[in-house]
Amino acid sequence: MSRDPQSDTWDKVWESRKGDSTEMAMLHDRMMAVLTDVVDVKGKAALEVGAGRGADSAHLSRLGATVTVLDFSSESCKQMRKTAEQLGVDLNVVEGDATAMPFPAGSFDIVFHQGFLEHFEDPAAILSEQYRVLRPGGYLLIDVPQKYTLYTLRKKIAIMRKTWFGGWETQFSIGQLEKLVSSCNFKVIRSYGWGFTGSFVFLRRPGIRRMWIRVAQGLRSVRGAGGRSEATDEAAPITGTMGQKRYALWLVDNVGVLAQKK
Ligand SMILES: C[S@@+](CC[C@H](N)C(=O)[O-])C[C@H]1O[C@@H](n2cnc3c(N)ncnc32)[C@H](O)[C@@H]1O
Repeated sequence: MSRDPQSDTWDKVWESRKGDSTEMAMLHDRMMAVLTDVVDVKGKAALEVGAGRGADSAHLSRLGATVTVLDFSSESCKQMRKTAEQLGVDLNVVEGDATAMPFPAGSFDIVFHQGFLEHFEDPAAILSEQYRVLRPGGYLLIDVPQKYTLYTLRKKIAIMRKTWFGGWETQFSIGQLEKLVSSCNFKVIRSYGWGFTGSFVFLRRPGIRRMWIRVAQGLRSVRGAGGRSEATDEAAPITGTMGQKRYALWLVDNVGVLAQKK
């Protein structure tokens, strides 16, 4: 099989991040909570596409799902095999391409991905492939960077200067994501967002960064948000009253939808 040159880029990313985080810090708890709130995952066949480090899949495996993780980076697959062994969970690790997955139609009850769809210029084609491998009534869970954030600004500048690690990446407003998913024959069941200040993790000066973290932690407690989200302390979910409002989905760092195959 010839290797996609992009997979080399991801190999380097995962090689450089080897062992830089604990399993808990890699878990996307908001996304997982949305899924487990609606779906009893026990005994379900789940697929994570572009699974990276696979912490969310390890979590689902612990909850009793039968989990397959697919990634085209051999370094990611190597690390996921090791993680599964260390944690004592079952993950069926498959090195493969998300554009043409090596699974028969209707193989899975749940397909999900986090930080993945934004890497494709034709996301509808990727979602169609996921539609194929889902059984009718199966669930699709997607989590992507939200459009109106400082992360987007920083990314656009880096892409223009040709210094963005993956060369190119896009982002979605919640409306765009819902429209895209609906156009691929899925019914959106839940929309959600998380991370209010995570964009600022890119501040390079340690002093300013520390100051922002203190401000962000203050904002978080004012809003009554609890718990950790994503890999950094700065990326707090908006919860409380504000978190219930639709407009919050235009302020957060990441948005997601849970949808069902029609
Ligand atoms: C941002 S990472 C996902 C991180 C993951 N959510 C985690 O928690 O570790 C995106 C992943 O998608 C994978 N990927 C990108 N394009 C792919 C493709 N065409 N087929 C399979 N995997 C792909 C990359 O190798 C990378 O591991």
